[in-house]
Amino acid sequence: MTLTVNGRKRTASAPPETTLLVFLRDYLGLNGTKYGCGEGACGACAVLVDGRAMNSCMVKAVSLVGKRITTIEGLAADGKLHPVQQAFLDVEAFQCGFCTPGMIVASTALLSENRSPGEAQIRERLEGHLCRCGTYPRIVEAVRLAAKGAHRG
Ligand code: FES
Ligand code: FES
Repeated sequence: MTLTVNGRKRTASAPPETTLLVFLRDYLGLNGTKYGCGEGACGACAVLVDGRAMNSCMVKAVSLVGKRITTIEGLAADGKLHPVQQAFLDVEAFQCGFCTPGMIVASTALLSENRSPGEAQIRERLEGHLCRCGTYPRIVEAVRLAAKGAHRG
């Protein structure tokens, strides 16, 4: 099957039941998207599908032919980190980093809909994203910092 991933057509031969998460990691080698629970409960596997965050472990890859898929690897542009990535770095919004790609992807989707989310909106949007290291306060801070940057843009 051929999917559009990070702006490129990517083709691989995978069984029809292959999830998007497995397709990305095992067939395309895009390991930035993390395999956490595998059952839609942790958000580590989130990617953007036509700009909306989606848990890639819960959707079959074949159902996304023709959609625009963006992974954490596809957020940086022209050698520059995406503002949300930069903000996470700036405030060190991670410890082990396992939840970070999913958090960044979900935060990017939120900021594309709402350029100035309040703390409650950020927390609500990231509710399905678990951080075992408990860095939630810094994650919220990073999203707010990225939102300030978005205002300048
Ligand atoms: Fe997909 Fe946990 S791995 S939600
Ligand atoms: Fe370790 Fe979030 S930084 S799970």
